[in-house]
Formats: sequence, C-alpha cells, structure tokens
Amino acid sequence: MLAIRPMGPDDVGAAEALSAIEFGKARSSAHQRSWCTRTEHLLATDPGGCWVADDGAGLAGFAVSFRRESNWLLATFVVRGDLQGAGLGRRLLDAALAHGAGCERGMLSASADVKAFRRYRAAGFSLHPQLSFTGRVDRAALPAGLPPVREGTAADLDLLDDLDRRRRGAAHGPDHAVLASHCRLIVLDRAAGTGYAYLNDVGEVVLLCATDEGTATALLWEAAASSEPDADYEIAHVTTANEWAIDVGLAVRLAPATEGYLALRGLAPPVPYLHNGALL
Ligand SMILES: CC(C)(COP(=O)(O)OP(=O)(O)OC[C@H]1O[C@@H](n2cnc3c(N)ncnc32)[C@H](O)[C@@H]1OP(=O)(O)O)[C@@H](O)C(=O)NCCC(=O)NCCS
Repeated sequence: MLAIRPMGPDDVGAAEALSAIEFGKARSSAHQRSWCTRTEHLLATDPGGCWVADDGAGLAGFAVSFRRESNWLLATFVVRGDLQGAGLGRRLLDAALAHGAGCERGMLSASADVKAFRRYRAAGFSLHPQLSFTGRVDRAALPAGLPPVREGTAADLDLLDDLDRRRRGAAHGPDHAVLASHCRLIVLDRAAGTGYAYLNDVGEVVLLCATDEGTATALLWEAAASSEPDADYEIAHVTTANEWAIDVGLAVRLAPATEGYLALRGLAPPVPYLHNGALL
C-alpha cells in the first residue's frame, strides 16, 4: 500500500502537472503559474491540510485542503489515472478531512467524476449541482445606468471578510491577497446593500459575495459589461439557489449547462454568492 505523507513545496510543480492531465484541460503558462501560486499559498498558510502519495512513477495523488476560521475547504484532489478507483483517494481525503475535524462547515467544488461523487457523499457532503453559462455577451442587453462600482483596495479587507462570514460562515482572510494579486476587485457599497466581486483578465467573476440580490445582480452586470466584445465569456459556479445569477446569464443570452457540484457540509448553498472553485 502506498504511504501518504505531508505535501511539501517541492511537490507543487508535479501536482500541477498531474491535475492538468487528470482534469484533461490544457493550461496556459499563466494558469499554471496561478495554480502553483495558490497551492504554495495554501501550503504556507495551512500545511497540515495538504497530503500526497508517490510511487516509483512519481506523484500518485494529492489532496490540498485548508481551514479558514470554522470552515474546512478542499481546493483540489487528484489521483493518477492508472491508480484511480482502488482506494488511494479515500485515504488522501481521509487525511485532509482529519485536518478539518471540529470545523462546523465544509465546502468544495466537485467535478462530475462519479468516483469523486462517491467519496464526497460518503464523507457526509450534500452535492448541489452547479451551472455554467457560456457564450458571447449580448451587449444590447446590458442595462444602462448601473450603480457605480469602485475599485477595491487593501482598506476593504475587513468589509470583505464581514461579507464572507455572513454568506459562508467564515472569512477568506489571507486568500484575499492571492485573489487580489491576479484579479480586479470591484466593490459596491451603498445604503441599499454592499458587495464585492473579483474579476479575471477577461471580466469573468471568480468570486462574488453581497448582502442582497440587487447588489449581487448589479455586480454581475458590471462584470458582464467589462467583457471583451466578441470574446467567449463564462458565468461559472451558479447553484440553482442563485436564480438572480441565472437571470443575468439568460438576459445576456449565454447558454446554461450543468457542471459538477458544490459540495457542502453544515451549510446551505450561499446566496447571493458565486463561489471560487478552489478558495470557495
Ligand atoms: C476523485 C478521485 C481523486 C478519487 O480517487 P480514487 O482513488 O479514484 O478514489 P477511491 O478509489 O478511494 O474511491 C472511488 C469510489 O468510486 C468507486 N468507483 C471506482 N470506479 C468506478 C466507476 N468506474 N464507476 C463508479 N464508481 C467507481 C469505487 O468503488 C469507490 O467507491 P466506494 O469506496 O464506495 O467503493 C480520482 O478518481 C480522480 O483523480 N478523478 C479525476 C479528477 C477529479 O475529478 N478529481 C476530483 C475533483 S473534485
């Protein structure tokens, strides 16, 4: 039986390569770098949640989990193809889950893999289907007169953490710095409600959190408006509890499809909220 051991910084490059293979998606070098930066950050802030196994052929599998206040979060979980379905995933996930013992809540974004589904359900997670909306934003559908957002700064961190706690029970804390290092942060803060969103380089939301659906909707409109004309665009990680986001996706004529699950333990799908795939 392969031994499980704590992950170290030297494992990150091999873990990135293995995850790219097993998720079957070619990654740009920028994506590879941001994957490694994020994993190094999680390893540095919470090394006890990160576990690997290796054999003569190299890295056999790994699980990267971390705690934020009383939430346990799983960022990534992979077993090499030739070893899948033989129980290694169970042992890696058990090691990661043990790190979260005593946490009130658990969150992870699951692939559609049936083996992953079995593991998460056996660990007591409820699996909520996620939707993704893709296509070209119909710019004629963008509303005029959106409330003005402002660019977020480090001075907003307490505000962001407070919003996180209201929606998912725990702050993102140090994870905001990683998001801010490669995303634009927009903030809407007014009497009617408060919220924030991180947008990637093509204006897609990678995390959105707000006090109310009106504010969340305004932030998502702002994101869609910042998309490149005639470029592919995605609104990802939409649970059916977030119908306000479904309505924006349909209004700008993107096409819905189901894509994996938001797996939760100890909390209902956060609303209004579009989670981050790894930092949740
Ligand atoms: C998800 C993953 C990490 C699990 O690791 P693993 O070593 O395959 O997991 P295990 O062998 O411990 O458990 C797999 C479960 O699926 C079952 N299984 C195996 N092959 C199966 C198949 N073809 N169809 C249905 N179930 C299958 C196993 O019997 C086991 O269930 P059980 O414990 O109830 O009997 C691994 O399969 C993987 O890397 N998948 C691709 C990447 C991915 O989707 N990662 C998850 C991201 S959220």
